[in-house]
Order: sequence, then structure tokens, then C-alpha cells
Amino acid sequence: MSKTVRVAVTGAGGQVSYAMLARLASGEVFGDDTKVILHLLEIPKKPDWTPPNPTARQPLDIAEGNAMELLDCGFPTLLDVVVTDDANKAFNGVNWALLVGAAPRGPGMERKDLLGLNGKIFVGQGKALAKNAASDVRILIVGNPCNTNCLVAYHNGKEIPADRWHAMTRLDHNRAVSALAVKAGVPNAAVTSVTIWGNHSNTQFPDFTNAKINGKPATEVITDRAWLETTYVPQCQNRGAAIIKARGLSSALSAANGAIDHVKSFVRGTPAGDWTSAAVVSKGEYGVPAGLVFGYPVTIDKSSNWKIIDGLSFDAFGKAAFQKTLTELLEEKDAVKDLLPG
Ligand code: NAI
Repeated sequence: MSKTVRVAVTGAGGQVSYAMLARLASGEVFGDDTKVILHLLEIPKKPDWTPPNPTARQPLDIAEGNAMELLDCGFPTLLDVVVTDDANKAFNGVNWALLVGAAPRGPGMERKDLLGLNGKIFVGQGKALAKNAASDVRILIVGNPCNTNCLVAYHNGKEIPADRWHAMTRLDHNRAVSALAVKAGVPNAAVTSVTIWGNHSNTQFPDFTNAKINGKPATEVITDRAWLETTYVPQCQNRGAAIIKARGLSSALSAANGAIDHVKSFVRGTPAGDWTSAAVVSKGEYGVPAGLVFGYPVTIDKSSNWKIIDGLSFDAFGKAAFQKTLTELLEEKDAVKDLLPG
């Protein structure tokens, strides 16, 4: 029997959403037997807005244009597209919410200012989700700083169970898999058991120490430990900046792909013998204070239930890397403490 899934996407006029929306609508994620209704949220139009150049448009107008294009794809799975600037309407009855929209860092703005500015957006969106979403809603926060935005939204939408709130480390995971595959000269599929621990930022720990290549420890296949520590890890941590340098714009196609992969894994489960990376609300696993949104290795079953992989160990390098990203997330939590009720 055909079922229907409602999916909210915020920041629907932005570049990540543009690379993601058709894939959500097409059946690729939820299957050919599931109808999709997309709810696109953008910021309200500014009446006094002056276009910075002749082709510039307000984000809500772009979202409307994207909705027109989605309809023009003629997907058999797409039932409707709703475009709105009202979060209550956007989250009404949704089964998935992909929170991509966030304020960009402005000139002269400190990281702390960005945390505060975005924190306020995610206070409102956490409350609006709790009030309006379907009882089975799952939420993926993509907009940066995504772990701490997720922390704020979760704390303000606590009527929704903690296990439903995720922040995206899947792009980092995919980057980490691909970089090992390239170095080892193997297909991506040969690389398993990769984890992005901690924050989606340049303190993340792309864990090569527990990774496998063709079922063998990655460190036995790539024996150049100096390369792993001083080239591979910084390359993964700074890949976002390298993309910005090359494109003049931040990653969009691969970011959208990371979000699509995340949702697919949570809808269909992870493959036997492997796991994926997701930032989830910690219950204290691996010594992380409970309540922090921390990147972990997770397996997911076909009913969307997930579990953190237990019992991985770290060598001295891994312990230091883990501690660094944990410290950063604790500092970010402190910077938004006024936005965390109870
Ligand atoms: P963009 O600037 O092209 O689009 C962002 C859109 O969000 C804009 O249209 C803006 O109007 C909208 N927006 C801002 N506040 C909003 C609100 N309160 N409600 C609804 N919409 C709102 O940015 P882009 O390139 O699409 O990136 C989106 C976000 O994703 C950024 O925060 C970026 O840093 C983050 N990102 C995260 C990645 C990850 O791996 N977690 C990877 C790549 C990007």
C-alpha cells in the first residue's frame, strides 16, 4: 500500500537545498511506493530589499522557483510542494525535518556571535517542531554550527524524544571514506568502519585507527602513519575550506548528498558489518557528558532504531583528537547556555 511522507526543508532557497530537493522528491530516498509532500521554509521577504545585482532574488522567491521546478520534474512520487515563511506551517505534520537554513557568518563576526545568532533561530524551530510535527518526526540539522544548533533545537523541543535529533557528520564521513580509498587505491566500498567523532568542524576526529580496508585494519593497509596523522586527518578536517577556496562557494552538491545518505540510512538501515557517522544526543557514551550532540559511529535497523557502536578503543593520538573535539563542543554549549531551558 502506498504511504505518504511529509518532509520539511528549511533554507529551501539556498544552494544545499537546490542540490537536495529533487532527490527527496524522486523516490530515491523514501522508495517508489511512498508519496512525498515537501514543505519548503524560507525567511520572510524584506519589503525594503534592494537587489545587489540584477539577477539576485529574495530567498522566498527562489524557494517558489524551486517548487515550480520540482513540479516540472513530473515525479510520480511527488504529491505536493508547500512554500512558506511560517515555521509552524512548514513543520505541520512532518515526518522528517531537514534544517538546512542558518544565518551565515557576517563580516567581523566571531564564532561566538554566530552561535548566538543561529541559536535564536533554532530555539524557535525546536519549539515549532515540538508543536507541529508528526509524532514519528526525525530531524537532521545541517545548518552550521550544526551540532550546537541541534543541541539548542533539542533543548527547546524536548517533547520530541532525544533519539530523533541528529546533526550531520555524514558529509565528513563520506569525505573520510573517499580519502582512504584514494590513498589505498581501492573502491570506496572497500572502506568500512570509519567514524567522525565529535563536532562537524575542523576539530572533528576522522578515525582511521578503527577503520578497515577490505576487512583489514586501515593502518595495516596504509602503513605510512605520518601520512594518516599529518595529511589525512587535516585534509578531512579542512576539506570544507578547500572546497570554498576552489569554488568560491561552500560545498553544496556533496553536502546535499551527505544529507540524502543520512536520511536513507535512517530509513533503510546500515549495511551488515558496517556503520555510519551521525551526531546524536549523547547518553554519556565514551565519556561524553550526557545531553551533548556528539558525532558517533551508529548502526541503524530497518525500523530507524539506532545504536552507538560500543567498545571501540583509541591509541594516544586518538585520545588526544577525541578530547580536542569534545572540548570544543563543551565550549560551544557554554556559549549558548542562555538558550537551553532546564
Ligand atoms: P545558503 O546561504 O545558500 O542558503 C541558506 C538559506 O537558509 C538561505 O536561503 C537563507 O535565507 C535561509 N535561512 C536563513 N535563516 C533561515 C531561517 N530562520 N529559516 C529558514 N531559512 C533560513 O547556504 P547553503 O550553502 O545552502 O548552506 C546551508 C547551511 O548548511 C549553512 O549553514 C552551511 O554552513 C551548512 N552546511 C553544513 C554542512 C554539514 O556538513 N553539516 C555542509 C555544508 C553546508
